Order: sequence, then structure tokens, then C-alpha cells
Amino acid sequence: MPLVVRPANADELVRAEELVTRSINDLTVRHGFGPIATSRSPDFQAFCLRDDPRGVWLAEDDGEIAGFALSWVSDRLWFLAELFVAPGRQGQGVGNALLDRTMQHASQAGATEKCLITFAFNVVSQGLYVRHGLLPRVSILLCTAERESLVRHAQDPALRTTPIQNTAADFEMLRGLDFATLGVSREKHHRYLLANPMVEGIFFEDGGERVGYAYVAATGHIGPLAVMHAPAMPGAFRAALAMAIAKGAPQISVFVPGTSEALAIAASQGMRFTLPMVLMSWREFGDWTRYLPRNPGFM
Ligand SMILES: CC(C)(COP(=O)(O)OP(=O)(O)OC[C@H]1O[C@@H](n2cnc3c(N)ncnc32)[C@H](O)[C@@H]1OP(=O)(O)O)[C@@H](O)C(=O)NCCC(=O)NCCS
Repeated sequence: MPLVVRPANADELVRAEELVTRSINDLTVRHGFGPIATSRSPDFQAFCLRDDPRGVWLAEDDGEIAGFALSWVSDRLWFLAELFVAPGRQGQGVGNALLDRTMQHASQAGATEKCLITFAFNVVSQGLYVRHGLLPRVSILLCTAERESLVRHAQDPALRTTPIQNTAADFEMLRGLDFATLGVSREKHHRYLLANPMVEGIFFEDGGERVGYAYVAATGHIGPLAVMHAPAMPGAFRAALAMAIAKGAPQISVFVPGTSEALAIAASQGMRFTLPMVLMSWREFGDWTRYLPRNPGFM
């Protein structure tokens, strides 16, 4: 039976994410990083599908999922959150066919910016994206540390934190910070994060002025984090680390762009670089000295 590329349904997301996990682990084991992915509930994928089904595609061969792609659009930004092909089906044009479909989503939605985050060691994905006009721009490193080792370096944070509330004023502030750092609004994504009881969203305050925001998960993961001005990044990053430590999870993790001062702080605190990623975009996009993405799918 020929390969069929078609829109995915909500009840197929669990199986699609199983394929994503298999594909990631096959890649990372081949490159010496070991199996890094575990199966998770496809909450963000389901949110994206409900929000805009034009970005969610499945490649199917004889009833088996051969590949899966998911893109979201926020404001004028198209972001490729996932593109994965089953290990035995790679190099046969499946990824290319899925990417074509998700890129149609960008033009249908009127997006003028295109961006994604992929594995820095995957020459195949980078080659495919370059052929579609997206170039590698910024290195992003997953930094991790045992909570106990970070406690030894912790300093009292200089910035105050206050919770993000579900008010028009707070959403206006988030919008201003996203425009300053990314040039686009991500209101629906803030609503998604703020609805998750396992994630805490806060503003950083300096002398009564709000200078940034961050989300810190109960799992010890930090991000996204954004600051209005680059000089606020060190203070904001230290305050986010202190919050993550206070959560008590055994491991702290955060994706840090190579252009951000936060990377030197992470290294000086003994955090290890555990996964090299790279941000690719159609043209220069975002100020990565002032923004730490949540992960390669959410950005
Ligand atoms: C990356 C991935 C999605 C691509 O899908 P695929 O079905 O294997 O890719 P395709 O066969 O459609 O196309 C691959 C293209 O990469 C290009 N490519 C392969 N190796 C390359 C290299 N070393 N340098 C430059 N380009 C390269 C090829 O030219 C090929 O295009 P062509 O056959 O038209 O010439 C798939 O390999 C995969 O799932 N990899 C593991 C997970 C992953 O990294 N996903 C991306 C996450 S963002």
C-alpha cells in the first residue's frame, strides 16, 4: 500500500508520540547520548491540534504510522514543534513530504517568520531544513544538574518574584515582554502554561518594575524565561534557579542559548551540557540573549 500523508486525529496522538520517542532514542543512541526520551502524555500536541488542526500531519503505511509532524502558529510565527520518521522508514522522502504539508500551514496562517529547534548533531534534519530555506542560527544547550550540587552554589536572588495572574494587566505585560524578545505575541501559550498546576509562572521585579517572566515546573525544569533588557538576564536566571531548587525535584534542567549570559552562569554553577540543539530560522528571528525556550517543541 502506498504511503498516505493525512491530517492526524486527536485519538492518534498517543501512538504518534510513541513513534516520536522511538525516533528520538534511535537517533540519540546512535550519536552516543543514550536513550533520552520517555513516553509522555501528548498534552501540548492535543492543545495544538484543538487550536489549529492545519499543522498536525501523519504519514501512514499499511496501518502503521511512518512519520508525524506538528507545527503551531502564534501571531506571525510558524514553529515546527515535531518532525519524526520511524527509524526503519528514514531517508525515503517521508520527512520531506510531512515538512511540505506543515509548511503549507505557515502560508495558510499568514506566518512571516519560520523557526524550529533541532538536534545539533543531526545532519539529516539540518540538511532537510536548509533545503526548505531555514538556516542554523543559534546554538542551544540543555543544561542539567543534580539539585544537591546546585544548592552549594545558590545565592540569595537579587530580583523579587511575583506570581503571574490571569488578569488583563498581566497578559498585557507578557505581551510586551514577548514582543520585546521575540517580536510576536504568545498569549495562547501563556494561557496553556498557566492552566497547568504543576508549573509556576512568575514575573521578575527590580525596584518595583517588572523586568521579565519565567515558568518553573515541579519537575525542576525552567522555561520559557524572558527579560526586557539583556542586563536583567543574570539576575533573572539566578532567581529561576533558586525557584527550581526550592521545588525540591532531584534534577534541575533548562535550555540555554549560546548567546545568553545565562550559559556562563549555568556552567559556573556546575551544570552539565547534556544535549546540543540548534535553532534554525528562515531569517534572523528573536533575541536569544533575552529568551530561554521551554523545550524544542514549545519554544
Ligand atoms: C530528520 C527526519 C525527520 C527526516 O526525515 P526523512 O524521511 O529521513 O528525510 P527525507 O528522506 O525526506 O529527506 C532527507 C533529506 O536530508 C538530506 N540529507 C541527508 N543527509 C544529509 C547531509 N549529510 N547533509 C545535507 N543534507 C542531507 C537529503 O538530501 C534528503 O533529501 P533528498 O533525499 O531529497 O536529497 C528523520 O530522519 C528523523 O526522524 N530523524 C530522527 C529524528 C529527528 O532528528 N527529527 C528532527 C527533529 S526537529
